[in-house]
Amino acid sequence: MSDSDKKQKVLILLGSPRRNGNSAIIAREIARGAETAGAEVESLFIQEMDIKPCQACWACQKPDSKGCAIKDDMQAVFPKLIDADAWVIATPVHWFNMSTQTKLWLDRCFALAKYGKDPFRKKIGIAITYGDTDPYTSGAINAIRSFQDSFRYVGAKIAGIVYGSALNKGEISQNETVLKAAVKLGEKLGR
Ligand SMILES: Cc1cc2nc3c(=O)[nH]c(=O)nc-3n(C[C@H](O)[C@H](O)[C@H](O)COP(=O)(O)O)c2cc1C
Repeated sequence: MSDSDKKQKVLILLGSPRRNGNSAIIAREIARGAETAGAEVESLFIQEMDIKPCQACWACQKPDSKGCAIKDDMQAVFPKLIDADAWVIATPVHWFNMSTQTKLWLDRCFALAKYGKDPFRKKIGIAITYGDTDPYTSGAINAIRSFQDSFRYVGAKIAGIVYGSALNKGEISQNETVLKAAVKLGEKLGR
């Protein structure tokens, strides 16, 4: 089996406290697209996981490091991140940036540098929702910039970003343009 025939694994990180909120709805459409393209998809709901803040102990960066020193649910997430071909990060805008849940996860990815070769060589998809009318006034732009800077720093490629305005839970379902873009991004990640 050649590499291109290999079933792609897509790991979705749901970063909203709402399990079925707007960002999760976009993530679901991305998953649908990825599955249509033949990928295997797994979703993790960060809110229900015990993910502690990075303690800046630098244990993960030492030459003989055994990885992150914090013994919480991230220990089970690290191998999944390494194993996946693509990551999808779905977050609402909270106070003009990504959600705290998402940031906790992102900070802990610092430890991935110690897991194998090129741990960040993934296709990255991002889904963002916000209550204000556009990416600038909502602060979505800050989340986008944070992801762009973080993934550029570690040499990862962002395959696509889907974002849209929706305040109330489920409201994004009415935005067909966004949902279609999400399916398309999923297909790209799943190929
Ligand atoms: C604590 C909190 C802070 C928020 N801050 C912003 C904000 O800064 N800008 C904005 O446009 N919307 C803000 N919102 C609205 C959410 O981004 C919006 O409802 C989003 O669609 C929620 O996505 P979710 O359903 O996936 O959680 C905030 C919502 C909450 C609960």
